[in-house]
Amino acid sequence: MRITPYPEYIKPNMETINHTGIKKRIEWLRREIERHNYLYYVLDAPVISDEAYDALMHELMDLETRFPQYITPDSPTQRVGARPSERFAQVTHSIPMLSLDDAFSPAEVREFANRIKKAAGILAGDITFTAEPKMDGLAVEIIYENGMLAQASTRGDGYTGEDVTANIKTIKAVPLRLNIPGKLIIPKRLEARGEVFMHKKAFLAYNAERVRNNEPAFANPRNAAAGSLRQLDPRITAQRPLDIFFYGTGLIQPFPEVHTQWEILQYLKSMGLKINPLTQRVKTIEEAIEYHNALAQKRKDLPYEIDGVVIKVDALRLQELLGAKARSPRWAIAYKFAAEMAVTRIKDIQLSVGRTGAVTPVAVMEPVRVGGVLVNRATLHNEEEIARKDIRIGDWVYVRRAGDVIPEVVEPIRERRTGEERIFSMPETCPICHTRLIKRPGEAVWRCPKPDCQPRLIRSITHFASKGAMDIDGLGPRIVTQLVEAGLIRDMADLYEIKKEDLLSLEGFAEKSAQNLVNALKNSKKTTFARLLYGLGIRHVGEGMAQLLAANFHEIDALRQADAAVLMRIKGIGQEVAEAVSNWFKEPDNLLLIKRLMDHGITLESSPAADRPTASSADPVHGKRFLFTGSLTGMTREEAKRMVEARGGLVVNQISRQVDYLVTGEKPGSKLEKAKAMGIAVMKENEFLKLFQ
Ligand code: IVH
Repeated sequence: MRITPYPEYIKPNMETINHTGIKKRIEWLRREIERHNYLYYVLDAPVISDEAYDALMHELMDLETRFPQYITPDSPTQRVGARPSERFAQVTHSIPMLSLDDAFSPAEVREFANRIKKAAGILAGDITFTAEPKMDGLAVEIIYENGMLAQASTRGDGYTGEDVTANIKTIKAVPLRLNIPGKLIIPKRLEARGEVFMHKKAFLAYNAERVRNNEPAFANPRNAAAGSLRQLDPRITAQRPLDIFFYGTGLIQPFPEVHTQWEILQYLKSMGLKINPLTQRVKTIEEAIEYHNALAQKRKDLPYEIDGVVIKVDALRLQELLGAKARSPRWAIAYKFAAEMAVTRIKDIQLSVGRTGAVTPVAVMEPVRVGGVLVNRATLHNEEEIARKDIRIGDWVYVRRAGDVIPEVVEPIRERRTGEERIFSMPETCPICHTRLIKRPGEAVWRCPKPDCQPRLIRSITHFASKGAMDIDGLGPRIVTQLVEAGLIRDMADLYEIKKEDLLSLEGFAEKSAQNLVNALKNSKKTTFARLLYGLGIRHVGEGMAQLLAANFHEIDALRQADAAVLMRIKGIGQEVAEAVSNWFKEPDNLLLIKRLMDHGITLESSPAADRPTASSADPVHGKRFLFTGSLTGMTREEAKRMVEARGGLVVNQISRQVDYLVTGEKPGSKLEKAKAMGIAVMKENEFLKLFQ
């Protein structure tokens, strides 16, 4: 920081000054503090020392304490101080905050430019674009009324966000009052949009502090920024070092003399709103591609995280002409950087047995940091995938996080092989119970068919006890494992035979905790049909499907008797689900399990409306039907399906009006055109992954 003497700062003797003088002094202090905030936080060019700044702030706080009648909402002292609220109020954006289509290659970016030319009827010549760093933070809208900060909200679903005014006010780079140059008209309303983010350095320091306080660390600066902004207590947000770059506007009244995106940015900047100085105006799409490549080189050295470049048509008239699709404008695209990769070694390939018996190979790796997260395990999906990628135990490999979420082994580095590497082969029997594994027709996954194979049993009983199912308070994976290992339970029905004395013989149980679990088990007996059905873990029966079945059959016996054809007559039930359900009820072991559960006094109320399992109604996955087309790059179809089902959604194989989302991978097939014609929402793989973040 440049420290210069500060000539204007001559503190008057406040004891001898009258009220007009005090008011004037307060106003001067405010202007002065905001000016230094701007120089420091926006321009990054401070002209006074921290001590001089603190002195100004202290003087203002002192005067405001003594003369509270002069406190105004835009005073810099008001950035912190609002009381915590219960929860955020909802704010509807006057113009929806759209999202952006992604591109991953120059070819896709050129296609974007060609589409624009075609739509705009431009036969020759170039189009001017802006190329802006795509900040990896969270989008906000800040409304200034007559130059004063009036409201700030998050993007939310694009239509409605949360009111985070108090929190936004704590960000020093956000002016509480616009500094409008004389030649500009003060807008009655200005909706400024930008990205709130946390600097990499601040993130590391903040995480270190969290770890010291025994709080969980945030995975990346974006999560830390989002978590901080969504703090109910703005005093906590104020302690978190957040920053902002503005990149656009919503409504502006009256609309200023600007005709391009570039001019919008300059307009925002002239009023004291911080814009990213790396933004450039480019004359051709090729220049935009070059900008992307150059920025990718610089990325590591930037003090904040970016995940690509946003390319926008510069001329506002052309933007208007091109318009928008349902969720994204046609005049802009996010040209993403390739996912960050890291290199590590595969120490072992282990097998994990899931709730459905799926035996999945998992790479166990030397821990490595990828995109801010420590990674040491990654699913390898199945043996075919391992053979296709030629991954061996002992290999040095590239790992990345697919869609920046799920860790994935990309490929081995063959040049680093020493000859010591071992080829993985799938065992013929279950690694736990040694039962011969089976493979269903058309599937790549091997499964252990034994329902009471230990890890399978533990996972299915844990699922049975989970919140959306029987909601047995306190019965998580650790205690289920203990119960199974002690031989106290071999299936779900055994849970209801557990006595307090049994628990007392186990490590970690005392009188009170044992009694609590016994009570929780007793309480769980009064449940609903849908919860029980979901808890049984029938394939394809997530929470949404369980509700649909319960609403149509009301009681378990009626469902047991329904064959696949009957089930398929219900809207929303396809062949796969119908067969899975009717086959499940044909298994004598399953029928016995139901009988024993009922004998233990499980009672089912049928109240379909009240039967919404916790925290799922607002879930965009819950109860929704997903269809996939094209090849997924970051996961297998099987994995995507498991993710959907785990959240109570359903994956279907055929297109119909009942499909809620079509998820497109690379080279999508004809389903895409059909979905568009049917008006079905289409999302790309990375958007799909975002639903699971
Ligand atoms: S423009 C209609 N510009 O990316 C245009 N967005 O995927 C919509 N983002 O929600 C946004 N940097 O959170 C725009 N320079 C930039 C951006 C940017 C980051 C984020 C923003 C938005 C998301 C869209």
